[in-house]
Parts: sequence; structure tokens; C-alpha cells
Amino acid sequence: MSASDAAALLEARRADHYRTAIVLGSGLGALADIVDDAVRVPFQDIPGFPVSGVSSHAGAVVLGRLANLPVVLLAGRAHYYEHGDARVMATPIAALAALGCTHLILTNAAGSLRPDMPPGSLMTITDHINYSGLNPLIGQTGDDRFVDMSAAYDAGLRQRIARQAERLEIPLQEGVYMWFSGPSFETPAEIRMARTLGADAVGMSTVPECILARHQGLTVAAVSSITNFGAGMTGGTLSHHETKTVAQSGAAAFMALITGLCGDLADDPA
Ligand code: HPA
Repeated sequence: MSASDAAALLEARRADHYRTAIVLGSGLGALADIVDDAVRVPFQDIPGFPVSGVSSHAGAVVLGRLANLPVVLLAGRAHYYEHGDARVMATPIAALAALGCTHLILTNAAGSLRPDMPPGSLMTITDHINYSGLNPLIGQTGDDRFVDMSAAYDAGLRQRIARQAERLEIPLQEGVYMWFSGPSFETPAEIRMARTLGADAVGMSTVPECILARHQGLTVAAVSSITNFGAGMTGGTLSHHETKTVAQSGAAAFMALITGLCGDLADDPA
């Protein structure tokens, strides 16, 4: 079954003029609960969609409206570390494009590398470092696999997010996100390396989805919810439990920011 079949299956459940899709990261799934007129389709009902095993990732497509904008939410994503397959999100992202989506907002939980960006912060991603060495386009044929990544995270969408943050008085940082494969967290030495290489945050997702989305011609923005300082920065230890609980405690500001962005896109389509 192809991505266009998956799109047709979703459209049959709830048709609308979808242009905006949002991927919800760890602890950020509550956004799916405030979608108006929502229809939820579990990943396992959609051929080609992965079934995620991470406890905080629900694994469903939620179709509906946020701030009157038609939206497609991927409530839960699959990660490279679950399947050992960097292409694990290829069908869902191709299905979003087949549904008519032109914009993809990626979200994640991430570790901070900056002392001035503590847990609880929100950060828009300006650029990424693909430290994993993996690429979801390996094995693709044709010249369009050579995707330009010079402006992978759209400046216009970033500006819109910054404007909403200002309007809502939500502090917002900007920075470079570095992808580690996971699932083990980084070592303190790796965190020192990441800081030296110019990263502001580290995480285990987002980069393959950004590459797949750019390959599909989608405009991408990404927001990280900072849940901890990188390993070795505080003397404490790291856990997925902390990732989930800190992301959940910052979810209200995150939800307000993304809903504000949706309202802005509804009033003035990008
Ligand atoms: N490292 C990698 N991924 C993460 C982290 C981290 O410190 N925090 C949340 N996701």
C-alpha cells in the first residue's frame, strides 16, 4: 500500500483542506486532546505506518482543527532506535504530502547544552547537525535525493513562531539541534563534543523527519521542549521518566505557542 492509499484512507475518515501537519514529541501529546472536531486513527490501522513502542507516544493520526486551522497531527512518532531504520517515518511523511500538506511542524523533547537554557525552555530549531551518520534517503534513486538543506528550517515559519511567543509572553530560545541515534543518552564527553561542534540541544528524533519532509517539498519548522541539561552538565543522571514529566509540565506553554501559530496560519496562510 502506498502513501497515497494511506492519505485516501485518512481523507475518508475526515476530509478537509489540510495544509499543516504537526508531529508531537515525548510528553507533548496533550495537544491532540484540544483539537476540535477530532477524528483519531491509530497508526496500526494505516498500512505503512509504524507502531511505536515508546510509552509516551500514543501512535495515532488526529485529524481536526486547531484555532480554526485544519490540521493533521501525528500523535506519537517512531524513532530510529526502535526499528534500526532511518526510513521509519517515510510513509507517514509521504502520506502527509499526499493529503495536501505543505507545512510540517516537528516537535520533540531535547537536552540543553546551554547553561542559559534550562529545563522548561522552548527552543525553535534554526538548523541541525546529523551526528548519527544515518540518512533516510539512502537507497533512494533519482536526482531529487540530493536534497538542499541550506535552509531546512523555514525562516518565515520561525518568524511566525517568534511573533506568537512575543504575543503570548512565552520565552523562546533559538538554536541548533544535534541528532544522536539513542536510545542510550549521551555521555558527558559526547555532550562536551556536541557543545564544541556548535550544537545547542541534543535529541533522538526530528532530523530524519526533517530530511524526509524536505525531500517531499514540505516547509519545515521545529520546536524543542527542553527537559534536562545534557549529561554531565549538572552532576545528576538522566532518565526517560524525567523527559516525559518535564515535557508534560511545560506542555501548557508549548500548546499555547503551537495553537497561536495555527491561528496565525489560519488568518494568513503561508
Ligand atoms: N539527550 C537525548 N535526547 C533527549 C535528551 C537528552 O539529553 N533529553 C530529551 N531527549
